[in-house]
Amino acid sequence: MTAEPVAWRTDGTPHSERFGDIYHTEAGALAQSRHVFLGGCGLPAAWAGQPQWRILETGFGLGLNFLATWAAWRADPARPRLLHFVSIEAWPVAAESLLRAAGAYEELAPLARELAARWHGLLPGFHRLAFDDGRVLLTLCVGEVQPMLRAQRFEAESLYLDGFSPQCNPEMWSPETLKALSRFARQGTLLGTWTYARAVRDALAQNGFQLERRPGLPPKRDCLGARFAPAWTVRRREPLPETVEAPGRCAVIGAGLA
Ligand SMILES: C[S@@+](CC[C@H](N)C(=O)[O-])C[C@H]1O[C@@H](n2cnc3c(N)ncnc32)[C@H](O)[C@@H]1O
Repeated sequence: MTAEPVAWRTDGTPHSERFGDIYHTEAGALAQSRHVFLGGCGLPAAWAGQPQWRILETGFGLGLNFLATWAAWRADPARPRLLHFVSIEAWPVAAESLLRAAGAYEELAPLARELAARWHGLLPGFHRLAFDDGRVLLTLCVGEVQPMLRAQRFEAESLYLDGFSPQCNPEMWSPETLKALSRFARQGTLLGTWTYARAVRDALAQNGFQLERRPGLPPKRDCLGARFAPAWTVRRREPLPETVEAPGRCAVIGAGLA
């Protein structure tokens, strides 16, 4: 699988030719990760003292949300024992692009090097990468967002919605995608996203989220936080055996060098 090319503008902003949009705002990727995603989900305060914390993200991109979350986890004495970050990405970039994006931030660069060292063989499917003696897990789901959401089932404490803009990247924000995403929420799950688009707000509200308008980072005026608090009782099916809840067993026939 060929790595997705990233077009770097002269000011250093990464741009996607496939979608005709930038990966992060001009205000800076780390500021966006901290304000929009960690901040929108009340992190790091929300995970204090918890045994584990599971985050589901749509759009791994350059990995900056993952790296910023991992850095926040490392810096927090009240961190959960286990941080599990599950992210969906149909077009993984090259390891060099991850390093270049994180290279601008001293606090992320060493983590990016660890990530880049493990960043290979990303064929379509699920990939589990473990860091910090297995206390930080990254499950990278390489594939289209909707099939990847359908293929797993678990409860996430935080949701990061990070597609390109809804105009350029409608599948990431469609009512079907947002409905599928809401199946990963439990009472009180918090969500953060940089968009304040009406259609996204409507779909989230219809699926049981209470919305909070938050100040955006320039040039965005607003961004969105939300809490899963449906007025109805949610009935969940049992988790799929192979989801993040329970380690599964498998037999490999003809594994060769694997
Ligand atoms: C704005 S970027 C994500 C930035 C990222 N969260 C970070 O911290 O660097 C959006 C990502 O969504 C991915 N994407 C877009 N449409 C998708 C789809 N239908 N299924 C899966 N991934 C998709 C893109 O390839 C891109 O990497």
